Amino acid sequence: MSRLSLTALPHLRSVSRNRIIPSIACRYQSTSTIPNPNPTLPALKENELAKIIRDTIKSTGPIPISRYMQFCLSHPTHGYYQKGDVFGEKGDFVTSPEISQIFGELVAIWFLTRWMEADSPTRVRIVELGPGRGTLMDDVLRTLFNFPGISASIRSIHLVENSEALRTIQGDKLSKRLEGKEVELGWYTGINEIPETTDTYTLFIAHEFFDAMPINTFEKTDMGWREAQVDNDPAYIPNLSTQSSKSGLCLSLSSAPTPLSTVLPATSPRFSKLSTGSRIEVAQDSFKIMRRVGEIIGKGLGGSGVVVDYGGDRSYGQSFRAFKNHKIVDVFDDPGNADLTANVDFAYLRESLAGTGSSSLGPISQSSFLLSLGLQPRLRKLLDSATDEGRKEDIRKAAQRLIDPLGMGGQYQVMGVTDDRALKGAEGGEIYPFIAPKKQESKVLRP
Ligand SMILES: C[S@@+](CC[C@H](N)C(=O)[O-])C[C@H]1O[C@@H](n2cnc3c(N)ncnc32)[C@H](O)[C@@H]1O
Repeated sequence: MSRLSLTALPHLRSVSRNRIIPSIACRYQSTSTIPNPNPTLPALKENELAKIIRDTIKSTGPIPISRYMQFCLSHPTHGYYQKGDVFGEKGDFVTSPEISQIFGELVAIWFLTRWMEADSPTRVRIVELGPGRGTLMDDVLRTLFNFPGISASIRSIHLVENSEALRTIQGDKLSKRLEGKEVELGWYTGINEIPETTDTYTLFIAHEFFDAMPINTFEKTDMGWREAQVDNDPAYIPNLSTQSSKSGLCLSLSSAPTPLSTVLPATSPRFSKLSTGSRIEVAQDSFKIMRRVGEIIGKGLGGSGVVVDYGGDRSYGQSFRAFKNHKIVDVFDDPGNADLTANVDFAYLRESLAGTGSSSLGPISQSSFLLSLGLQPRLRKLLDSATDEGRKEDIRKAAQRLIDPLGMGGQYQVMGVTDDRALKGAEGGEIYPFIAPKKQESKVLRP
């Protein structure tokens, strides 16, 4: 199951309503004096990261959700992505590049068209944020290497990845693809480490990266914005299997303004227009990272890229959720052992580009993007070269999954980014396929 699937959606809504709202009533209270009501119950294996987080809260008070997410996703020993391969049927979720090679191939075709429109610069680099298993980059490179002009121009690959375990997996895969080529491969822990350039065209991709960026949640009250924070659950009894909160953590709404609640809700004019009682999830790191991407692409020879993720052209208030074994679970169930994610506010990413020399394109649905770039003819080719019926059916189903309007095809959005020069020079001020919405027929995939 992908992290946004047909079956996940209704469940997601109930998770948000049932879990987040009631737990906001929780207030900090020491658990050390609460007696064990039934000492005969089996002891649970302690989640070490949960204990670290509870101890932090005990000494400093409730922590922002963003800090909780950083603990869970990126803690050097207990962080989710430090554990290695969490993708695929055996992992916790499946992503589009892992479902079908067509995804990466069509991203590469878009890159090729942008490079040609930019007068085929002879120095090109590709930057990817959060490459996972390296599958998407591998498919992009395999495709681009079929075109001698751009193939000879690719000088370097820059991967922003903070998981050592995933870096190893990416390195193993991509070093094979780059064998015999004069292409540098390098890793960075953040976008700010990517070197500036004036003589190289930048191609950029972030697939399911921004949904993993920390968010902070705020509620608009009569007294102004208040922050939802992670607190210790006063009802928690360590090591017992009967408690409602398995990790001893819950959400609480701050009674007074916090440093973040005074700053972040003021970062978009859209937030101030919301009515009392509204919630917003604000991803300040996403804003900063996207802004830096805009600055990189906006300078020198320019560049272009795509951000693909679930979300929409608006803010969300209750999309924060956890995935484990292809199911949505409580965000506090098993810190560090479940993926944490939130919908991407593409409008906020667009706002971050103001004054950078770059502009956003779209977003459009994943299905629109892939069909416009030739998913169907590519699928026909793959089916022609498949030898047995079983394989043909797998290929067909995988492609259908990418464009399913009720699943990944409709829920995942693709936002382009380009240097302003390219946009000004584009016919009608539009860059294909980010053009005025057209109805795409995506139901029938039989070639
Ligand atoms: C959901 S996975 C997506 C992987 C891949 N793009 C795909 O679609 O299959 C998120 C990726 O972002 C990386 N990541 C998460 N937070 C990060 C951070 N703060 N800095 C760098 N990489 C991060 C993870 O290690 C992982 O490679």
